[in-house]
Amino acid sequence: MKVIVPPIKSQGIKTKLVPWIMDLAPKVEGRWIEPFLGTGVVAFNSGHANALLNDTNPHIIRFYQGIKDGKITPQTVRTYLEKEGELLHNAGDSGYDHFRFIRDRFNEEGSPLDFLFLSRSGFNGMMRFSKKGNWNIPFCKKPNRFSPSYVTKIVNQVAKVSHVIQDGWDFRSDPFSEIIPLANKDDIIYCDPPYHGRYVDYYNGWTDEDEQKLYSLLKETEAKFVLSTWHHNNYRENKMINKFWNDFNVVTRDHYYHSGGKIKNRNTIVEALVFNFEVSDFDEHNHGVRHKKPVEQLEIFHGMKKDEKQNTISEEQLMEWTKSDNVFQDCQVDSPAKA
Ligand SMILES: C[S@@+](CC[C@H](N)C(=O)[O-])C[C@H]1O[C@@H](n2cnc3c(N)ncnc32)[C@H](O)[C@@H]1O
Repeated sequence: MKVIVPPIKSQGIKTKLVPWIMDLAPKVEGRWIEPFLGTGVVAFNSGHANALLNDTNPHIIRFYQGIKDGKITPQTVRTYLEKEGELLHNAGDSGYDHFRFIRDRFNEEGSPLDFLFLSRSGFNGMMRFSKKGNWNIPFCKKPNRFSPSYVTKIVNQVAKVSHVIQDGWDFRSDPFSEIIPLANKDDIIYCDPPYHGRYVDYYNGWTDEDEQKLYSLLKETEAKFVLSTWHHNNYRENKMINKFWNDFNVVTRDHYYHSGGKIKNRNTIVEALVFNFEVSDFDEHNHGVRHKKPVEQLEIFHGMKKDEKQNTISEEQLMEWTKSDNVFQDCQVDSPAKA
């Protein structure tokens, strides 16, 4: 499956898991409903003509609504990024002066193109907002971030997404509790909520009550659903699996991610998909995965000492530091944003 990659980035992006999710999700007559849209990568690969796509982060919804309405086009994105990229290139403090200018303008005015700029020039493609709702990810420290090839890559991503978004796609910015009850028996709901016990920010607070509410709504729904969550990592298990999600079917898969640019900064987590329908020919663990060198991978991970994993700034550290309202401006990062 060739995955359509969205122009907006975030640490929770499910790009690598899309084929697994789409293999599991049944084809339905009704709508694709996504109460926690995020970057949109799963919806953009769902292939549905009718959809209800929602996120409490209004910047995400405004961006994709702008594409649907034809206000944001590949050409407007190119013109904008070429202009702002040039200003970034020539700005003082190795480009940081212009990054701050765009960040402050975005915090004042909330322009979708400034949102795209920050998403594509922030540290490691992360998205995070402070307690006041301000952008809270530092610059990737590459004054030449918007090189001609990078601008073209983003413009192509906008072009693909504008092609995929259909007239029958409805974008909303409401709490999930107002979206799930709108589903009927012909629809499929895909839920990717903030992970319990993990990231927290202005748009991603997630409490025990939220998880309980989500469970109750999914238990009641007549629609089919697939829920993404984490199952366990090397240090702990997700207690919500036993508390709620084992009431349904659960499949799992190993997922590797990097908290820095080096191979030794690789971490692993076991992801889960929870669902309320029957499947055949679907492996309970690592469906569709072909490990080239499983033993070597295991050794790299298990042989690591704790301090070896953290010779650069990890995403967890960054998460901790950016919890305050101080925008974290001076970190030395060595891992370029992957896009
Ligand atoms: C884990 S992310 C989704 C990632 C997405 N599947 C992707 O691949 O990019 C969770 C999203 O839920 C949104 N969100 C958090 N709390 C919410 C709530 N109560 N109702 C609706 N959306 C919420 C966040 O803004 C965030 O974009």
